[in-house]
Amino acid sequence: MQWPPRHPRIDELDPLPYGTDWPDLRCISGRIDVHSLVAFFAGEQRVRGHYLEFGVGAGRSAVAAIRAHRRHNADGLARWFLFDSFEGLPALEGPDAGSRNFHQGQFAFSTEQVQTTLEQHGVWDPERVALVPGFFDRSLPAFDVARFEGLTASVVHVDVDLHSSARTVLEWVTPHLHQGTVMLFDDWNMFDASWQHGERAAAREWLAAHAGINLESFARYGFHGEAFVVHC
Ligand SMILES: C[S@@+](CC[C@H](N)C(=O)[O-])C[C@H]1O[C@@H](n2cnc3c(N)ncnc32)[C@H](O)[C@@H]1O
Repeated sequence: MQWPPRHPRIDELDPLPYGTDWPDLRCISGRIDVHSLVAFFAGEQRVRGHYLEFGVGAGRSAVAAIRAHRRHNADGLARWFLFDSFEGLPALEGPDAGSRNFHQGQFAFSTEQVQTTLEQHGVWDPERVALVPGFFDRSLPAFDVARFEGLTASVVHVDVDLHSSARTVLEWVTPHLHQGTVMLFDDWNMFDASWQHGERAAAREWLAAHAGINLESFARYGFHGEAFVVHC
């Protein structure tokens, strides 16, 4: 087998870098191929778990992540659970109000649209990919955790833009983490990278409320995102 493994890039949603080969992992815009990096890391852990994405949008990151885990963590990744209102962002309140970047209803893509995107990119698999619709404050308490079949989350992708949304997600996902879970915060540097706003504020408050949990920086991607390894 060729080492390092090489894969042809399928299209613009493929997480593999343009024009460069692994292990450079940098695409043309300087954004690292974080999904492949995380899939490698999760695969090396040899812990079977789920991929939980909070904030699906049009499904672009889901396509990239599913492809990355199929390539690099095929045995370790059990199922992909993709949570979103599928109606866009909720009303902005509290520290989210007045955002220059976000507004209510932004990123509204229906479950049908997302499923079509996943189908078009060859990653839709109803046995292993689940779309979970609803605003998090209702959909998460109503979610039947028996669907996890006793497995925890290998990867948690938080791409919800807002403080209130991230707060709800972090509190809910806490019992589903294990030592070594990777958490990606796609909007870590939004709201001017302030600790008083957005995902950073939610993470700061969550860590303060859970003394047994720590986040260790794992990778930065683009101007906006940061991935962490969970210690718990
Ligand atoms: C920036 S988009 C996600 C983009 C996607 N991860 C990607 O990279 O292709 C943010 C998503 O978070 C969802 N979202 C934010 N807050 C939410 C909430 N409280 N409940 C449900 N969905 C929410 C929005 O509907 C939106 O689709």
